[in-house]
Amino acid sequence: MDLFGVYLGDRLGLYRALAEAGRLTSSGLAEAAGIHERYAREWLEQQAATGILDVDDVEADAEERRFSMPPGHDEALLEETSLNYAAPFARAFAGGVRPLDEVVAAYRSGDGVPYERYGIDLYEGQEAFTRPLFTHLLGQQWLPAVPDVHARLGAEPPARVADVACGCGWSTIGIARAYPLVQVDGIDLDTASIAKARQNLQGTDVEDRVTFHERDAADRELAGQYDLVTIFEALHDMSYPVEVLGAVKGMLAEGGSAVIGDERTEDRFTAPASELERLYYGFSVLHCLPVGMVGDGAVGTGTVIRADTVRRYAEEAGFGSFEVLPIESDFWRFYRLTP
Ligand SMILES: C[S@@+](CC[C@H](N)C(=O)[O-])C[C@H]1O[C@@H](n2cnc3c(N)ncnc32)[C@H](O)[C@@H]1O
Repeated sequence: MDLFGVYLGDRLGLYRALAEAGRLTSSGLAEAAGIHERYAREWLEQQAATGILDVDDVEADAEERRFSMPPGHDEALLEETSLNYAAPFARAFAGGVRPLDEVVAAYRSGDGVPYERYGIDLYEGQEAFTRPLFTHLLGQQWLPAVPDVHARLGAEPPARVADVACGCGWSTIGIARAYPLVQVDGIDLDTASIAKARQNLQGTDVEDRVTFHERDAADRELAGQYDLVTIFEALHDMSYPVEVLGAVKGMLAEGGSAVIGDERTEDRFTAPASELERLYYGFSVLHCLPVGMVGDGAVGTGTVIRADTVRRYAEEAGFGSFEVLPIESDFWRFYRLTP
């Protein structure tokens, strides 16, 4: 319930209005954010009751009470490029249960639930959660930790990169920003995500070196000359991951490799499990597994993709070399596949 209170504050711009004003009564918030006063009052009281907001004078008449954001909470709730930005989880969780009736039906039928059925909260929540990682870590820590890839991306002739399953495109944009010579193609089959990626590209300084394509990465026509193919937090969502990895192998130029970032799971099933593993399983039963069950013969990986599973997919796709990369990350493990 606390989480959905955050969802309301995020989606309706209530935190933003509070941060800008410093302190607000319920009528002040209602006016600033364009919502009804009675709802504003209840939400402010709920937020203070649960410790997310401060209240000046608890004893004051309800309409007179003034609410504010404690120091530091603004970073978690409002700072879109901070690595501590936590508000997107509320949107992602709300999106994760949007088609709950279809998920229940899918459990009985064995069918999948298509990604687009989860709607805007899911893909924009995902976008908001991963954007700080792609803005601050991808080009600054993760790729530089793979020395020959880092060197190739910085060298002439300009390297070509394909960012497969790019979602709303911040990883694609992040790579182009970190490496001023490279050309990057972002590829995703979700129409809404690619539209958002094209919108995100506007006003960056890399429009001339980034192109977004709405298409299935398993499409063999993509065979080209890429020095690097990346896939971030998406292999486990794919109905046919081996086919996609097979296509990725075909996309690579001589000396090229694929770098994959996916969930930092335990090596094997444990119960009870860590908080992180519980988070992954939670997403899996509601969203990632149903998404990966779409289509005849879909493999249905689920969020809890283990290193052994990635290795098996890589081998089945024909990659000759599989390596777990020594990259520190709270959420993801990184793999390098070479033909
Ligand atoms: C969890 S999202 C990750 C998006 C982005 N990489 C990020 O980290 O924010 C998974 C993405 O995989 C995409 N996807 C799944 N299967 C795909 C395929 N066969 N080809 C291209 N994109 C695919 C989905 O459309 C979705 O955007």
